[in-house]
Amino acid sequence: MRIAVIAGDGIGLEVVPEGIRALEKVGSRFGLEFTFDEQDWSCRRYEQTGRFMPEDGLESIARHDAIFLGAVGWPSVPDHQSLWGLLIPIRRRFDQYVNLRPVRLLDGVPCPLANKKPGDIDFMIVRENCEGEYSEIGGRLYAGTEQEMAVQENIFTRRGVDRILRYAFELAQSRKKELTSATKSNGIIHTMPFWDERVKAVAAGYPEVQVQAFHIDILCAHFVRRPERFDVVVGSNLFGDILSDLGPAVTGTIGIAPSANLNPERSWPSMFEPVHGSAPDIAGQKIANPIGQIWSAAMMLDHLGHPDAAAAIVQAIERVVKDPRRLTPDMGGKASTEELGKAVAAEI
Ligand code: NAI
Ligand code: MG
Repeated sequence: MRIAVIAGDGIGLEVVPEGIRALEKVGSRFGLEFTFDEQDWSCRRYEQTGRFMPEDGLESIARHDAIFLGAVGWPSVPDHQSLWGLLIPIRRRFDQYVNLRPVRLLDGVPCPLANKKPGDIDFMIVRENCEGEYSEIGGRLYAGTEQEMAVQENIFTRRGVDRILRYAFELAQSRKKELTSATKSNGIIHTMPFWDERVKAVAAGYPEVQVQAFHIDILCAHFVRRPERFDVVVGSNLFGDILSDLGPAVTGTIGIAPSANLNPERSWPSMFEPVHGSAPDIAGQKIANPIGQIWSAAMMLDHLGHPDAAAAIVQAIERVVKDPRRLTPDMGGKASTEELGKAVAAEI
């Protein structure tokens, strides 16, 4: 398998090698071979050359099997530049319209919510990843004057909404057959009633799946008050983004949360990355938790048709996190990034 590796910035550079360590280990056990094609695409590269990636960057990885990414962003470069210069072009060029983020409470991971046991929280967030609120359409008028104004358009297409909903319904069908839709059709009166209508229309094709819809504000409250009641949660680009930091936060630490940016049709490579960012506050200290990155490697193997190898990685993570001595400081331990990464590799 040819994997394009983009470690990026900050702790991305520290956790990606641990993801690769796990992949090589699981590869030797299951007979899988990887070629890791490392790219220096990052804020560092942008500051040195004026570009986050080479001009033909996207084309040069368009035939790879997958993309394995750390994190992109650094305080000296405005965040919207790194997001729109690197991550969003990859997601859109390769039509990675599904952002999939599992939320699970693991045994050994301290939960900030009272009285929750391992296994109580186990659901999937399906975020629309190519349109919605994250659009370039809009602009400013009268910039810098008293009459200054800013307009930002939301884009919801029937094609874009229906395909993310179908993915979420299929996923719900394969799990507990319960789907929750995030909406805000009381306040956002054009796009969100449209979203709700499409949920109803697509639901007609999945009579076994029970559907509930919540406005995003109360849904956030439910994530904290009763997260055990969710199975598959689907939301637009913005709502899905917010929920997918809140979900992992209620299960302990965002340091362990993985994500996949999927092109389900497999016309283009999909991308696998931890939910967290480049964490400039702890970068260079060698204490970043590598589990989000390693778990993302498992999601990559699942997508590439190797569910047994993927499960071996997840089981190794589950075993390692039960032992507080092997954990990084964000989980109450004293281990370094490399020590935790090696512990997972040893369990594999
Ligand atoms: P962040 O996720 O980088 O950090 C938030 C907090 O969580 C920090 O206190 C950090 O130390 C901690 N943290 C994050 N990952 C951790 C890990 N693996 N182990 C231990 N602690 C961890 O989010 P923040 O601070 O909002 O963003 C920092 C930079 O990362 C920004 O430039 C932002 O744009 C970028 N970013 C990039 C993402 C990506 O590449 N997909 C996603 C989110 C943010
Ligand atoms: Mg986010």
